[in-house]
Amino acid sequence: MRLQLMTWPAVETYLRRGTAIILPIGSTEQHGPNGLIGTDAITSEFIANAVAERTGAIVAPTIAVGMAQHHMAFPGSMTLRPSTMIAVLRDTVESLARHGFTHFFFVNGHGGNIATITAAFSEIYAERSMAPSGNVPAVRCKLVNWWANAGVSAISRELFGSREGSHATPSEVALTFFMHPETESHPEMEPQVAPSGGFTDAADYRRNFPDGRIGSNPNLATPAHGKRIFEAAVEAVARDYAAWSAA
Ligand code: NI
Repeated sequence: MRLQLMTWPAVETYLRRGTAIILPIGSTEQHGPNGLIGTDAITSEFIANAVAERTGAIVAPTIAVGMAQHHMAFPGSMTLRPSTMIAVLRDTVESLARHGFTHFFFVNGHGGNIATITAAFSEIYAERSMAPSGNVPAVRCKLVNWWANAGVSAISRELFGSREGSHATPSEVALTFFMHPETESHPEMEPQVAPSGGFTDAADYRRNFPDGRIGSNPNLATPAHGKRIFEAAVEAVARDYAAWSAA
């Protein structure tokens, strides 16, 4: 069930039998010559919606802008500063905790969000640790990256091998081609497999990775590959959610 398509009495009824909620979180940033700006938000939302359907959980609105400062030299990219993103996550969790939600399961689509999400969890727990006991409702937060499981890894290894890379990957681009087939494109990319390495700020990133990709060849992406990755991701994330929310 999508929170945005529910009424408040329906949410109140849900809270009598369950207090967990799924929160998709992504990013709005360049994804190379053929990857969509919304890739990380689109993928996490699709997967989270499917997991919610399968498990009967509520899914919150997608947090579609993340921590992407290093992509800002490419048009269309947007970012929250880490400090802003921590504030957004705190207010999101505290709003829902006010109503009785206790378990917050974040389905993440962007590796660059991980450090900031983890810091936000610490802020949320610190609030409780520093308040007189019982004054703030206890919560549990969990972060799951849709690509970080054995099922998805095996498929991406089989289909793409070392050409998966780490940004604008054929796996994530294939997922978006499956979800939005009208956006599929295969422009020429030079070199076919992008360079790998590190970066600091946005200018440094663009110098090191001129077309936005890191280590990847997203021209290998097809909607059919995306379908396989999607199904594996939903399977793994739903299993994680069921085990975590039951514990
Ligand atoms: Ni991405």
